[in-house]
Amino acid sequence: MAESEGAQQKKGLEGIVAGETALSVIDGQQGLLSYCGYNIHDLVKGSFEETAYLLLNLRLPTQSELDEFSKKIEEESSLPQEVIKMIQTLPSGVNAMAALRGVFSALAYYDDESEDNSDEANRRKAIRLIAKTPIAVATFHRARNGAEPLMPKSGKSIAWNFLYMLFGEEPSDAKVELIDTSLILHADHGFNASTFACRVIAATLSDIYSAVTGAVGALKGPLHGGANERVMNMLLEINDVDKTESWLRSALENKVKVMGFGHRVYKTEDPRATHLRRMSEALAEDTGERKWYEMSQIIENIMVNEKHINPNVDFYSASSYYMMGIPIDLYTPIFAVSRVSGWVAHYIEQMNDNRLIRPGSIYIGERDLEYTSIDQR
Ligand SMILES: CC(C)(COP(=O)(O)OP(=O)(O)OC[C@H]1O[C@@H](n2cnc3c(N)ncnc32)[C@H](O)[C@@H]1OP(=O)(O)O)[C@@H](O)C(=O)NCCC(=O)NCCS
Repeated sequence: MAESEGAQQKKGLEGIVAGETALSVIDGQQGLLSYCGYNIHDLVKGSFEETAYLLLNLRLPTQSELDEFSKKIEEESSLPQEVIKMIQTLPSGVNAMAALRGVFSALAYYDDESEDNSDEANRRKAIRLIAKTPIAVATFHRARNGAEPLMPKSGKSIAWNFLYMLFGEEPSDAKVELIDTSLILHADHGFNASTFACRVIAATLSDIYSAVTGAVGALKGPLHGGANERVMNMLLEINDVDKTESWLRSALENKVKVMGFGHRVYKTEDPRATHLRRMSEALAEDTGERKWYEMSQIIENIMVNEKHINPNVDFYSASSYYMMGIPIDLYTPIFAVSRVSGWVAHYIEQMNDNRLIRPGSIYIGERDLEYTSIDQR
């Protein structure tokens, strides 16, 4: 019998179980997300470092374990000179996610352990990747503005250092808290497209750098991580609270997919959107720039009440980042700064109980055609 003959499939593998994980679980009906058993509504009380530790160790750290973990991140918080040079010599106007994809790939060249697939080496590389991703994003942004890279300051969190390296000044506590919360919320999400891509690569026994390079390529797409940038571009295109409703109605009439809405798994509010909405509202108050939040509210009301489609993680992160002054094309790279912690944890989990991931397919092409030589066609 031919491969998958008689099999049923659901487009986009919706509802298909593709493996096991102890890292995160989503209840799409209740709107719940937990990492390793802990609800994200509780995890946002801690730090991104704590969440990263949790994902890598499947349990929360004690204070001394967290301090030691943070120290290891600090020790890995630099980029090889060659990678800095590579970032500085990228063509101008290069896509920020494409740059990050290249950095992940290049980091392997300067890691003596890149081909060592032992669990110990993978755990060291996992910490290395968590530490280096925010530096790579900030270095890219500074380089394209002709600025020298800034290296992280000792004793500060990933969120603090990321904002410091990006803007070149010490960030306020409020901004650090917002980025830290955002990093916690984006860290893991079941078998989402980029994580699944990461696990498929891991399952071939390829190295962790190859896996995160593939994952970042998947995250780049507008139906996945790229949606947050599209949300902000949509808000900028509308650019007027009073025009928001008519813009949206005409978009819906024209069957345009409204970015930042809808989700394969959540059939109610995405729990991450709950926090990001609060962040966006707080920033609107702080900055006095209420427009983006008010426009977002109008869009949300119509989408939820009339179309019954809820905002996802990308909707309110867009206006929040914008009000913080973060360049739009860095929204998806910031997603990667967080999600890399999930990718590396999934990589390790896959390697610890591995079988090649190789699904079947339903063949829909022609069969038994007669081959004619090229001069006869
Ligand atoms: C996330 C997403 C890809 C999920 O896709 P999916 O599970 O394949 O769902 P579908 O695209 O089949 O949507 C189901 C229905 O809801 C509608 N819908 C879903 N998301 C919508 C959106 N953002 N705007 C308008 N309509 C939407 C679809 O048009 C479809 O309607 P139909 O049955 O009348 O054709 C999809 O909702 C989307 O494209 N959203 C916008 C991009 C985005 O924000 N991505 C980030 C995800 S975290």
